[in-house]
Amino acid sequence: MTSQLHRREWLKQSALAALGVGFSLRSLAGEDQLAREFGSEHGLINLGSNENPYGIAPGAKQAIADLISSAHRYQYNIPGVQTFKKELADYYGVTPEHLLVTPGSGEALNLLARHYSKGNLVTATPTFGILPNTAKKIGTTVKEIPLDKEKVHDLDLMLKAIDNETSQVYICNPANPTGTIVSPAALKSFCREASKKAMTSVDEAYIDFLDAPNNESMISLVKEGNRNIVVIRTFSKIHAMAGLRVGFIIAHPETIQSLSANYFGNSNFCVSALSIAAAQASLKDPNHSKLSKQKNEAARNYTIKTLQELGYNPVPSYTNFIYFNLKDYPGDFAKDMLAKNIILRSSEQPDGKYCRVSVGTLDEMKSFIKEIKK
Ligand SMILES: Cc1ncc(COP(=O)(O)O)c(C=O)c1O
Repeated sequence: MTSQLHRREWLKQSALAALGVGFSLRSLAGEDQLAREFGSEHGLINLGSNENPYGIAPGAKQAIADLISSAHRYQYNIPGVQTFKKELADYYGVTPEHLLVTPGSGEALNLLARHYSKGNLVTATPTFGILPNTAKKIGTTVKEIPLDKEKVHDLDLMLKAIDNETSQVYICNPANPTGTIVSPAALKSFCREASKKAMTSVDEAYIDFLDAPNNESMISLVKEGNRNIVVIRTFSKIHAMAGLRVGFIIAHPETIQSLSANYFGNSNFCVSALSIAAAQASLKDPNHSKLSKQKNEAARNYTIKTLQELGYNPVPSYTNFIYFNLKDYPGDFAKDMLAKNIILRSSEQPDGKYCRVSVGTLDEMKSFIKEIKK
């Protein structure tokens, strides 16, 4: 047995052991340690974390290589990275005062949960877990509004759930784990209403996978001067920089000031200079993102079509992951697929068992389909 095989078996055993101690691959809440540990370099296909399998832009790689000899400096002492906020602001048509850069958008979500912690939070279920889970941990009441039958946000019910005690509304569009969207017009009117009563946080982690007109961002509401809208973005998805940890918040400058005052790890320190340089280069390489989007779409279409042929009914996905009901699958799907060297997520919902599988490369999706056929 080669050392790589040894390592793979060891990792798999650790994963299976971890399932028994409540450290579940089935969790949809944030990243789990196991999924981070595994990669195709160990012969495992990682379809668990909605990463971009095509790697970072060539310019971003070069930027890291170019800056490595300055890595002994704090980023505020490196002229090349001092311009990041300005470049990011120009890209999105806002000012640097509209931005708070964080080490990954997960950190932004944690910050929002801590900052708007009074009373209750209104969100959907299921949804991306970081913000609601942090809120629960620190004692905020979380009102979880079920998605509708189509697995789309029920905006009316969410609006009705907002009361005088609501300090924040969190909505993820496109939605995780389902991959569905609401139209920009519907979301805008929802955000306008919700923001009259509470801070309204819109997580747009996957928006770059959408085509026009669905890819219209709620940043437009921030630009209108609305102080109660926060848009959360990440470089982890279309920019393929999950391991480099760059995310950001776009909001009214007063909202950013208030959030920054409560932010211990001021972003002048907590985002790596190498990551900033990579993000700067990636912003300047729209072709790389375009290519990722095209390849993702091809692999997603193949997977959805094949799942349909196999009798599954995947939820229409606008993202780089697919959510589908496992019908009467008898066991723990994520655990069983791990035994076949494929990492994905499965969960039990009130209407049955579901799988969330990330869209990997076409070859990876063919391997996934091969296993599911068995
Ligand atoms: C909807 C959503 N928001 C935020 C994140 C966090 O991403 P990151 O912390 O890598 O920016 C994820 C990660 O999967 C996500 O799915």
